[in-house]
Amino acid sequence: MLILGVESSCDETGIALYDSEAGLLAHALHSQVAMHAEYGGVVPELASRDHIRRVVPLLRAALAQAGRSLAEIDAVAYTRGPGLSGALLVGCAFAEALALALDKPTIPVHHLEGHLLSPLLSADPPVFPFIALLVSGGHTQLMKVTGVGEYELLGETLDDAAGEAFDKSAKLLGLPYPGGALLSQLAERGDPEKYSLPRPMLHSADLNFSFSGLKTAVLTLVREQDEPLTDEFKADAARAFQEAIVEVLVKKSLKALKQTGLKRLVVAGGVGANRQLRAMLDDEAKRKRFRVHYPELAFCTDNGAMIALAGCLRLQAGSTAKPAGSFSVQPRW
Ligand code: KG4
Ligand code: ZN
Repeated sequence: MLILGVESSCDETGIALYDSEAGLLAHALHSQVAMHAEYGGVVPELASRDHIRRVVPLLRAALAQAGRSLAEIDAVAYTRGPGLSGALLVGCAFAEALALALDKPTIPVHHLEGHLLSPLLSADPPVFPFIALLVSGGHTQLMKVTGVGEYELLGETLDDAAGEAFDKSAKLLGLPYPGGALLSQLAERGDPEKYSLPRPMLHSADLNFSFSGLKTAVLTLVREQDEPLTDEFKADAARAFQEAIVEVLVKKSLKALKQTGLKRLVVAGGVGANRQLRAMLDDEAKRKRFRVHYPELAFCTDNGAMIALAGCLRLQAGSTAKPAGSFSVQPRW
């Protein structure tokens, strides 16, 4: 079975071809980050227009990479939500129209299921069941994953997502959008002893998170400084922020493993690229004898490969693909 995957929920256009036997054959991606940078955040209207410009050339590139033709595609999977409605509609219209023309079915995919299953694209994939820590710009969740489509939400953020907290704190430190990755680079030069920020909900009995207070704590630190902020201060504050957020993410993940008795943790979503988070989890895994799986860096952030994979696994798990032709998305799915 050859599945085409289409991702367009936010500011990345991703197209991929996944074969149920041979695995990932090709993936093509265009990031709009540079385009939105001058506005300090994603501009939804510009995002939609750019997805329109990119989908066809990316499809051609993916087909060429895989050495396949349109006629060989068995089904088209696409992100139905959650995300920006205009952006989602571009991917939906493209996928549904293509499938209709090819007389093939479509598989609408939940964006987070794509992230959740993305570590299965790696050479040494995790086996079910596992705990998934989903940390992206829009979501922070701990899930118990027993199989494809079998997800139990164990805990989630009550306010900001982890990536959002990274981006907002980066902005407070004067870093350009999207600041998450830049903040983490800066943090590597910071002194971990200089400032100590609160660890929100670290000791709460549940598996929920809250990060908006942490962002406020960064704001308080910034307000205590003279303008302009020095590079040294920025690095130390970035480090303090990262130490706090990483500790909470790691401790809650350990708690989820302990509560469920599971021995495998999968980390997915953009914040999963964070080096300090990975180092601390690897360290705990050695000490507490569990395994941690990460998606390859290219599949941590949004991409079409995870959508093609999720669509393929859904079909294999018995979900039925729909006849093409629908035109609806679920921005708040
Ligand atoms: O999964 P993703 O690409 O998009 C969403 O679905 O949200 O995640 C993007 C988020 C952004 O908030 C970005 O700042 C954050 O992931 N991010 C990082 C790092 N790289 C990306 N956060 C912390 N450390 C990083 N190295
Ligand atoms: Zn995402």
